[in-house]
Amino acid sequence: MNNRSKVIQKRIMKLKEKRNAAILSHNYQRPEIQEIADFIGDSLELAVKATKINAEIIVFCGVDFMAETAAILNPDKKVIIPSADAKCPMAAQLPAGLVRKAKENNPDVPFVIYVNSHAEARAEADVCCTSANADRIVEQLNSDTIMLGPDANLAWYAQRKARKRVIPIPSNGYCYVHRAFRKEHVSKVRREYPDAAVIVHPECDPEVQLSADFVGSTSQMLKFAKKTDYERIIVGTELGLIQRMRREIPDKSFIPLNSVICFNMKKNTLENLLNAIEKETNAVNVPPSVAERAKKPIKRMVEIS
Ligand code: 13P
Ligand code: SF4
Repeated sequence: MNNRSKVIQKRIMKLKEKRNAAILSHNYQRPEIQEIADFIGDSLELAVKATKINAEIIVFCGVDFMAETAAILNPDKKVIIPSADAKCPMAAQLPAGLVRKAKENNPDVPFVIYVNSHAEARAEADVCCTSANADRIVEQLNSDTIMLGPDANLAWYAQRKARKRVIPIPSNGYCYVHRAFRKEHVSKVRREYPDAAVIVHPECDPEVQLSADFVGSTSQMLKFAKKTDYERIIVGTELGLIQRMRREIPDKSFIPLNSVICFNMKKNTLENLLNAIEKETNAVNVPPSVAERAKKPIKRMVEIS
């Protein structure tokens, strides 16, 4: 990291104290942001942490849907995001109208909504899930058939683990980052590194999941990496997590399954983080009527988890 970055980090740390702000960072954020965060985690950990924050301002370093969750759970706090353009494209694949229509067509089937969705869509659903708990949520619902969206690969993962029928809504929702991992990449690394473990995210295609040794959320992958006896681990998710693994587990080696980054997550930089905290800009506001309804499925998820 260069000197300029270190200077900006120091300015952010000072302002953070002065403004009584807390910085939450997703595992995919740039290393220089993760280094100054009060807490780093996956979507579930961040949602739970957001309910326990003792600060007036939450600076959410992640994408829009994550910051919306923090805002919904903290109506008395100001939630700001470094870049207003840090938006997850998958969330846009499930508009609220699609959830309503699916529920009209299947009135007795619960709708589990992936947290990678917007507040308006969540307000229509029965319960939220993240990649860390989709299987458990599906398993615990009192129905043999469940609807889950927008990620069709996560729906496939939950169906396989919970042994229930899971209908993906829409049928083809996906993440462009995780779609870049192919079965051929797994075959190639298996040949090159026969002694390594392959771990991937449930947003990867089913054939990639089936060829891996472990499938889990970003923080579940981190926990696996910390506990396993494997010394070399091939990681099928965004680069930010691999950088965290290398920082926190220096005695093991981590190799990307394919070098991919989420450009949307990377829109947050030290510079716009400093600007946002200095000027308290990019406040994340969810209309109270939507927030009230969107809170129920999130709370239900936190309770079940
Ligand atoms: P996690 O909840 O596993 O951190 O995943 C969030 C995400 O956006 C994955 O692409
Ligand atoms: Fe969205 Fe995929 Fe980026 Fe996660 S990695 S924030 S699902 S685009």
